Amino acid sequence: MADIDLFGLEPQNAALGPELEAAFARVLASGSFILGAEVEALEREVAAFLGAEHAVGVSSGSDALVCALLALGCGPGDEVVLPAFSFFATPEAICRVGAKPRFVDVELDAFGMDLGGVEAALGPRTRALLPVHLYGCPVDLDGIERLAARAGIPVIEDAAQAFGASFAGRRAGTWGTAGCFSFFPTKPLGGFGDGGMIVTSDSQIAARCRSLRAHGAAGKHQHGEIGGNYRLDALQAALLRVKLRHVERWRAARAAHAEAYAQGLADVAEIVVPRLPSAAVSAHALFTVRVQGGERDALARALLARGIHTAVYYPRPLHLQPALAGYGYRAGDFPQAELACEQVLSLPLSAALSEADRARVIEAIREHFR
Ligand SMILES: Cc1ncc(COP(=O)(O)O)c(C=O)c1O
Repeated sequence: MADIDLFGLEPQNAALGPELEAAFARVLASGSFILGAEVEALEREVAAFLGAEHAVGVSSGSDALVCALLALGCGPGDEVVLPAFSFFATPEAICRVGAKPRFVDVELDAFGMDLGGVEAALGPRTRALLPVHLYGCPVDLDGIERLAARAGIPVIEDAAQAFGASFAGRRAGTWGTAGCFSFFPTKPLGGFGDGGMIVTSDSQIAARCRSLRAHGAAGKHQHGEIGGNYRLDALQAALLRVKLRHVERWRAARAAHAEAYAQGLADVAEIVVPRLPSAAVSAHALFTVRVQGGERDALARALLARGIHTAVYYPRPLHLQPALAGYGYRAGDFPQAELACEQVLSLPLSAALSEADRARVIEAIREHFR
């Protein structure tokens, strides 16, 4: 029996072969390989898809976060509030601009930043809120927006995993002053290398991000500030434009699989399936369950023995990462984030997953706990 892949990218990409090859040939013939017409077209199309005024293509989701933070004037002496459970790039971006990450715990239904924790973390140095839509599920953006408005601080959404998600009918990434996306190959809109995008409806922030991605350029050979090389390639943009046309269909297919997983595992006592906020439409980047009773790693091994590939995103909470030890956090500071790290397991999820393979995953999990 063939292995069941976590992301199923190969069949998805293979189905797009002719479209992708045509896009590649177009870029080859154009002789323009960095920024340019393809990137501008992708920016327009993404902005239209998401309902944002501006989109700025950059080199990665990590660099999108850095540009957004810099564009908001975030730097030394500032604190940025973020969840203790995310990918390392989230706090890293804050540190890269010289600000301090201020962690808060997460809730365990859908791993969003805990709003009570956010409120408690706000202080005179708070410069921004940086919620993360983990696994593609938007956090309670209404609640975040309310807290941010009351405190008079901007929100930057880490929507790296959440392209195509929405909350209360509005796309994730367009609620905050800026939203940051990753086009890492396994993301809901994934390229063929690194890439990212900042979306915003603030024309000044957009202009500053455009300048920052090109060495702080204010004109030809004029540099108004220190930026970097955060440009997006034309080839990535051209290929992403192809994938953008399919992104909603893939999201809906993953949503159907997620629903079936949730039903198929509902009565397995050791498994806790995610519970999305009622206003949330997830991008379903990953289907991540919690495995109770200390059984997570044993279950992952048992599934692998049957050719079923899973992954742990993420095994270590951010506040306990060695690179961030200088901020003085300790084990026990964020118990839910720490528990999530011990329990989470992501199951195979892709538009290319067959119903038979999905049933095989469900049955293998049920059998493990029988
Ligand atoms: C939550 C989160 N933030 C930021 C990033 C960084 O994106 P990239 O890998 O494109 O730099 C990622 C991607 O892995 C992510 O999952």
